[in-house]
Amino acid sequence: MLSAIKNLFHSLRFRLIASVVTIEVIMLSLLVWNNISIIHTTHTDRLRDTAISMIQQIATTSGNYMVAVDYATLKEYLSNIISYKELSYIVVVDRDENAVIALGTVTPEARPKIDTHPALVNDNVFDIAQNIQVAGQPMGRMLMGFSLSLMDDAIHKSRNRGITIALIEIILTILVTIIIGLGLTRRLGLLSKAAGEVETGNYSVTVPTETDDEVGKTAAAFNRMVAEVSKRTQQLLYEEKRTQQLLTENRLLIKKSLEVQEEERKHLARELHDELGQCITAIQADAESIRDLSPECDHRVITSADAILNVSAHIYDVVHSMMHLLRPSILDNLGLEEALKDEIDVWKKRNPKISCIYDFDGDLSNLGERINITIYRIIQECLTNIVKHASASHVSIELKRDRENLHLSICDDGIGMDSAAPSQAHIGLGIIGMRERIQALNGIFMHETSTDNGFQIFIKIPNDKEQ
Ligand SMILES: Nc1ncnc2c1ncn2[C@@H]1O[C@H](COP(=O)(O)OP(=O)(O)OP(=O)(O)O)[C@@H](O)[C@H]1O
Ligand SMILES: [Mg+2]
Repeated sequence: MLSAIKNLFHSLRFRLIASVVTIEVIMLSLLVWNNISIIHTTHTDRLRDTAISMIQQIATTSGNYMVAVDYATLKEYLSNIISYKELSYIVVVDRDENAVIALGTVTPEARPKIDTHPALVNDNVFDIAQNIQVAGQPMGRMLMGFSLSLMDDAIHKSRNRGITIALIEIILTILVTIIIGLGLTRRLGLLSKAAGEVETGNYSVTVPTETDDEVGKTAAAFNRMVAEVSKRTQQLLYEEKRTQQLLTENRLLIKKSLEVQEEERKHLARELHDELGQCITAIQADAESIRDLSPECDHRVITSADAILNVSAHIYDVVHSMMHLLRPSILDNLGLEEALKDEIDVWKKRNPKISCIYDFDGDLSNLGERINITIYRIIQECLTNIVKHASASHVSIELKRDRENLHLSICDDGIGMDSAAPSQAHIGLGIIGMRERIQALNGIFMHETSTDNGFQIFIKIPNDKEQ
C-alpha cells in the first residue's frame, strides 16, 4: 500500500496532473473570490449612491407637500415610489418625530437604526434618513429602507456562475493535461522500456519517433545512439574473438616450441652421450694403451698419457653434467620424485648456507612426461632464481597431488622482488617461461612477493594424464 502511494508520487503522469490541477484550483478560487468581492463592492456602492440621491430628491419634493400640509397627495406620491423594487419601506415623521406616513414593511413605532453603508448592514435592509427642510425651516424627517435581497441575489448568481466557469475550466484543464500527459508519458515510457532492453544487451530495439517534437527528437537521437553502440559492440566482440583466437594460437605455438625445445635437448643429450661419450672413452682407452705400451723409463710419455687421461676425464664430467642439464635422464629412469630429490640435494650441496626443506605428497609416479618435465624445469629455475636474486636463508618446496590437481609451491624468505622499480635493462625469461609452461598445461600460475615475506610461487595443474 505504502509502496503503491510512493510509486504514484514518483509517477511523472501523476505529478504533472496533480500540480496543474492544484495551480488551477488555487488560481480560479482567487479569481472567483476577487470577482465576488468586486461585485459586492460595486453593488453596495451603487445602492448607497442610488439610495442617497433618491432620499434627497424625495425629501425635497415631500417638503413642499408638508408645507401645504397636503399629506394625502404626499402619501399618493410616496405610494408610487414604494413600488420601486429595492425599496422596503418609507416613513415620514414630522418635527415632533410622529410618523405621518408609513409605507412598506416597517412598523412606524419601531423605527430602525440608521445605517452608514449597505456593506455594513446585518438585517438585510439598508436604513437611511434625510431631514426635510423647506426654505431653511425643518419640517421633519424622511426614513427609507432599501432591501439587499436583490443585491444578494445578483451576487449569489454571479458567484454561482463564477464557480461553474471555474469548474468547467478545471475539468477542461484536467482533461487536456491527462491527454497531453498520457501521450507524453506513454512515449517516455517507450523510451525507458527501450533503454531497459539495451541494458540487457538487446541492440535491435528502436523507438518510434511519431512527431518532430522534443520527445520525437530524443527518440531519434536514442535510435542513433543504440545503432552506434550496437556497431561498436559488434566491433568489440569481433576484436575480442580475434584476440582470443590469437591467444589460443600463441599458446599452441608456445606449447609446440616447448615440446620442440625438450625434444632438441633430448637429441643433443643423446648426441653428446653417443658421439662425444664414445670419443672420450676411445681417447681414454688410447691414452691408457700409450701409457701401457711405452718403454718403462720414458717418463715423458707416461706423464703425457696421464695428462690426456685427466683432461679426458674432466671433459667427460663436463659433458656428463651438460647431458644432465639438457636431459635429466634420472627423470626417465627413476621418475619425478627421485629426480627432484636428486636435483634439490645437489643444489643444497652447492648452497650449504641456504636451508631447504621439501615435502612431496600423493602419487607422483604417473603424471606423464610433459608434467614431469614442467615441474622439474620450474623447480630448477626457482632454485636458480633464489641463488641469483633472493638472498634467502630458507626455502620450502611442497608438491602435492590430489584427485583433480597437482599443487606446487616454492617459497623463500629472501628480500622479495622490487616490483616498484623494474629493471628496464634486463627482462628475465624465467618467470615468463614458467607461466607459459603452466598455461600450456591449462594450469594456474601465481606469484606473490613482499620485502617481509620473500618470494612465493603457487602452481596448480589439472591431473590430466593426456597432457
Ligand atoms: N626468489 C626471488 N627473490 C627475489 N626476486 C626474484 C626471485 N625470483 C625472481 N625474482 C625477480 O624476478 C625477476 C625475474 O625473474 P626471471 O627468472 O624471470 O628472470 P632472471 O632470473 O632475472 O633472468 P633469467 O631467468 O632469464 O636468466 C628477477 O630479475 C628478480 O628481480
Ligand atoms: Mg631466472
